[in-house]
Amino acid sequence: MINHALPSYLNADDLGPWGQYLQQIDRVTPHLGALSRWVETLKRPKRILTVDVPIERDDGSIAHFEGYRVQHNMSRGPGKGGVRFHQDVTLSEVMALSAWMTVKNAAVNVPYGGAKGGIRVDPKTLSKGELQRLTRRYTSEISLIIGPTKDIPAPDVNTNEQVMAWMMDSYAMIEGNLSTGVVTGKPISLGGSLGRREATGRGVFVVGREAAAKRGVAIAGARVAIQGFGNVGGVAATMFADAGSKVIAVQDHTGTVVHQGGLDVALLHKHVAEAGGVKGFPGAEAFLDRDAFWGIESDILIPAALEQQITAENAPTIRTKIILEGANGPTTPEADDILMEKDILIVPDVLANAGGVTVSYFEWVQDFSSFFWSEEEINARLTRIMQEAFNAVWEVAQDKKVSLRTATFILACTRVLQAREVRGLYP
Ligand SMILES: NC(=O)c1ccc[n+]([C@@H]2O[C@H](COP(=O)([O-])OP(=O)(O)OC[C@H]3O[C@@H](n4cnc5c(N)ncnc54)[C@H](O)[C@@H]3O)[C@@H](O)[C@H]2O)c1
Repeated sequence: MINHALPSYLNADDLGPWGQYLQQIDRVTPHLGALSRWVETLKRPKRILTVDVPIERDDGSIAHFEGYRVQHNMSRGPGKGGVRFHQDVTLSEVMALSAWMTVKNAAVNVPYGGAKGGIRVDPKTLSKGELQRLTRRYTSEISLIIGPTKDIPAPDVNTNEQVMAWMMDSYAMIEGNLSTGVVTGKPISLGGSLGRREATGRGVFVVGREAAAKRGVAIAGARVAIQGFGNVGGVAATMFADAGSKVIAVQDHTGTVVHQGGLDVALLHKHVAEAGGVKGFPGAEAFLDRDAFWGIESDILIPAALEQQITAENAPTIRTKIILEGANGPTTPEADDILMEKDILIVPDVLANAGGVTVSYFEWVQDFSSFFWSEEEINARLTRIMQEAFNAVWEVAQDKKVSLRTATFILACTRVLQAREVRGLYP
């Protein structure tokens, strides 16, 4: 690995997800030509805000939580990226997620930079009132740097429409105006967009269809295995099943269910809503251990749960033709190399899961004009953007003989650094 000039706030021996991102930047740098003179810009976030988030617990005690908002790059537009509430949130993770947002937004060519936020908290340990106080205090702490034309948060792991409504309301109270455009992923009644909830899973399906056509895999009858059955994995499962694919395996945090003839996805959704997970689904033919999931033979594999799931250990056991990265950062660089050698086509996260931010962009545009589009119109525009982005990346990959991940980084980093260069350095 190239010896990066690391900032003092990082531990060089344990870079976490930020180290994974830096390796991806090393792979794209030789392809950036004269723009590589600006590449150091991508190796450090523009701005990092660390905040203390104190709340009064229901029992009268005071609790403090660690919060972040990282603005990785804003050369092409205001910051954009989700807010994650999770007990394992670290600065390295928020930095990497913010950088992947820079790449993703440039890859689908929406006019945003990259940002991300998070609080190191297990929200399951909080009451609804505590969660609301936490969200409002966090919003007030980061209100210095967010805003409809500065940085626009959205939901991520463990945050939802309700959390976005509290964030919007807190910001509106501070600013003294309604400011619906300060966050996306809002409830429809508050300026949210139709189609936003399904957008990421829909985008995964659209690029999956394009990738399958390139690989000569028929979607009808294709065997699909999915890790994660939440917003992204659950919607993708429904869309593939509706298109005639067989969803043969689903894994979530409770277990792994398998049916070679195809799981009944609608019934599985019902079961998960009632039982809290896929475990014990009566429509399954078999239940497997966690690790055995990766060895199931499929045509399309969709990691749609967490980071760093496909590793040097399990990559050799994977038997599939196409991987669609619904989750952010599910494949380590070592695993990437192993899968390339096995001739598995990987559609990377920064392209495959960009449907969510694309419809977030539509939501923001609709909020500014206070004019709302039909779901049909939204889905048609989303499909067009995802297809165009996939095909542009495909051409770069063919031309430069690189993976789709490196091709996406080439396309995106070129756009970001061109903007950087033409703007010039201030002062
Ligand atoms: N929701 C979006 O719009 C969006 C957009 C882009 C990227 N993503 C990424 O997609 C991923 C999933 O997000 P989501 O919104 O669907 O979250 P979610 O909370 O709705 O669902 C997460 C799913 O992962 C499963 N899971 C959790 N831990 C697991 C484990 N150890 N093993 C197997 N499964 C496990 C959960 O059971 C659940 O089914 C995340 O990486 C997120 O950053 C989400």
